[in-house]
Amino acid sequence: MDWGMKNRFSRILNSKTGRCLMLAVDHGYFQGPTTGLENLGKMVNPILPYSDALMITRGALRTWIPAETDKPVVLRMSGGQSILKELSNEIITTSVQDAIRVNASAITCSVYVGGEYEKETIGNLAHLVNEGEHYGIPVLAVTAVGKEMVRDARYLGLACRICVEIGARMVKTYYCENFEKVVEACGKVPVVIAGGKKIEEKAALEMASNAIRSGAVGVDMGRNVFQSENPVGMIRAVRAIVHENVSVSEAYKIYQSRS
Ligand code: R5P
Repeated sequence: MDWGMKNRFSRILNSKTGRCLMLAVDHGYFQGPTTGLENLGKMVNPILPYSDALMITRGALRTWIPAETDKPVVLRMSGGQSILKELSNEIITTSVQDAIRVNASAITCSVYVGGEYEKETIGNLAHLVNEGEHYGIPVLAVTAVGKEMVRDARYLGLACRICVEIGARMVKTYYCENFEKVVEACGKVPVVIAGGKKIEEKAALEMASNAIRSGAVGVDMGRNVFQSENPVGMIRAVRAIVHENVSVSEAYKIYQSRS
């Protein structure tokens, strides 16, 4: 790994724990004003200090996040569809030059394995990997799951392994039973989990804890943080799980505290 690639990676993965708590707020690229992110800056800026990295689009970054932030940016580079149409019909919307211009520490796009536009989305990832390797920017591949796909270790292992083989430096996927098999399918490539739809806080903390214990290096969570009644408490609780290995009940107490 070249110096620039290593340097960018080290901004995302905490040097002490080797883990990562990423805050995902890129939902608007196909969902519009997602619940909790209608005023993205008002929601994100108070919880950002507790995260290690921010996953976001270039438009949202420029509109709502102060350029003085010290948080590394994982820039969403794909889009082109909306919730009203076929979700896998993505293109690359952002140039690597613009990613460099906003000082992105990593770039990301979704891959829809088994989806209608499977080949095109794998092509999008390949394009980003070629560009990212050229400029020393790590690529995070997101395994997006269509409604018709079963989120089990067999499917997610297949999707993640394809991303690794195409050259992703990091993979984001969903937690499932036998998650160790998904992690194993990725070899040395670090895996983080998405939170998915909002669920009860304790269940979300349990999911994060199980993922870490099964070998995930972290969590790239969105709705389970910003749609929580106590977003600061929730991100602090998830952080304690990721970086301090606290139990779920300890983490839940952190969530409940308002300090
Ligand atoms: C899709 O909208 C994005 O890739 C999100 O960043 C991802 O789904 C993680 O957010 P959540 O935890 O809300 O699923």
